[in-house]
Amino acid sequence: MPESPFLVIDQERVRDNYRALHNALPTTRIRFAVKASPVPELIRLLDQHGAEFDVASVGEIELCLDAGIAPARMCYGNPIKKAAHIAAAYAAGVRRYAFDTEDDLLRIAEHAAGSEVECRFLSSAPESKTPFGTKFGCTPTEAFRLLVRAVDLGLIVAGPYFHVGSQQLDPQAWRIGIEQAGEIVAALADKDIRVSSVNIGGGLPISYVDAVPALDDIAAVVMAATTEFLPETAGLVIEPGRALVGSAGTIHAEVVGVRIAPDGRRWVYLDIGRYNGMAETENEYIAYRFVTERDGDPVDEAVVAGPTCDGDDVLYQRTRVLLPTTLRAGDRIRILDTGAYTASYSSVSFNGFPPLTVHVSGAERK
Ligand SMILES: Cc1ncc(COP(=O)(O)O)c(C=O)c1O
Repeated sequence: MPESPFLVIDQERVRDNYRALHNALPTTRIRFAVKASPVPELIRLLDQHGAEFDVASVGEIELCLDAGIAPARMCYGNPIKKAAHIAAAYAAGVRRYAFDTEDDLLRIAEHAAGSEVECRFLSSAPESKTPFGTKFGCTPTEAFRLLVRAVDLGLIVAGPYFHVGSQQLDPQAWRIGIEQAGEIVAALADKDIRVSSVNIGGGLPISYVDAVPALDDIAAVVMAATTEFLPETAGLVIEPGRALVGSAGTIHAEVVGVRIAPDGRRWVYLDIGRYNGMAETENEYIAYRFVTERDGDPVDEAVVAGPTCDGDDVLYQRTRVLLPTTLRAGDRIRILDTGAYTASYSSVSFNGFPPLTVHVSGAERK
C-alpha cells in the first residue's frame, strides 16, 4: 500500500464517464479539461476514445505531447497567456486558441498567425458551486466585435465560447449561454462570418453528498437550446473536467489526531488538507463524502482539518460533517469522488508535506 495520503483513479470509470457523455450528446466534440486531472494514462485513454484536449499552459501542452497527443487535438483555452507562451504553443503545433480580450487576440494574431480562435463571453448563467465570478469573458457584444476583428487579423473564427461555472446545478444555465451564443452567431452571419463551433465549456456537475441534475436532463436542455438558437452548421464543443474524472477518484487518507477544542467542538485532523489535494474545500464549496472503517458506530459533528500549521487548512467548519465518535489517530479514511481538481491542486511542499500521489487502477478495455 502506498504511503498515505494517495489518490487512486479508476480508469474504467473515466472511460464509462466519457462514453456516457458521448451517448448523451453524440454529435458534440468532447474536449477534456486537462487541469482537472493531468494524468498521462487518462489523457492517453481519452485520446483513444476520440477526445480533444483543453490545455491551460505550456506545461499542459508538453504533458499532452509527451502522452502522444497530436497538437491538432489541443485548444489553448486559457484566456490569460503571455506572448512567449502563445509562441511556444504555436511552435509546438497548437493551432486553436481561446481569448476574451483584444490584447490577447492581438498576441494570438502575432504569435500564432492563421490559427483558429474562440471568444469567451461572460454568460448570464446563474452562479455555480465553484463560480468564476467575472474573472473571464467579455460581453457578448464585445465577443461579436472581437470575432469580426479576428477575421481582419487573418485568424479563423471557430466561434463563441462560454463556461457556466464549475459544478453548475442549474440546467437552464446552458440554455441561457447557448441563446446568447446564438445571438453572436447570428450577428456574425450578417457579416458573412460562419462559425464552425460553439464551445459550451465545462460545468457538468457530479454528485458528492447532494444529488445533482442527471446528465441526460442537462443534455436534453443543451440539445433543445441548440435546435432553437443555433444554425445546423455550428457544431458543439463541450469541455468537461470534473464530469469525466471526478467520480473515478478516491483519496485514501489517515486520521492524524482527534481533539476537543476549548469551545467544545471536536476537531478531526487528517493527513490531507487544503494544500495537498483538498483545495476545492476552499469556502467549503465542495462537500466531499468520507468513509471510515468505523462507519456504523455512533456519529457526531466534527470540524475536519488538514495537517499543516496554517489556520486556513481547515476543510469543513461550517458544513455539518458527521463522523464516528470512535474515530482516532491512525484510522484510515477514504474521501470519495475526488478524481477532479485534487492532485493537480496540491502544493509542491507546503510545510514539507509532499504533493498528493496518484495511482491509476483498472485495466483499460476498449
Ligand atoms: C477553460 C476551462 N474549460 C473547462 C473547464 C472544466 O470545467 P469543469 O471541470 O467544471 O467541467 C475549466 C475549469 O476550470 C476551465 O477553466
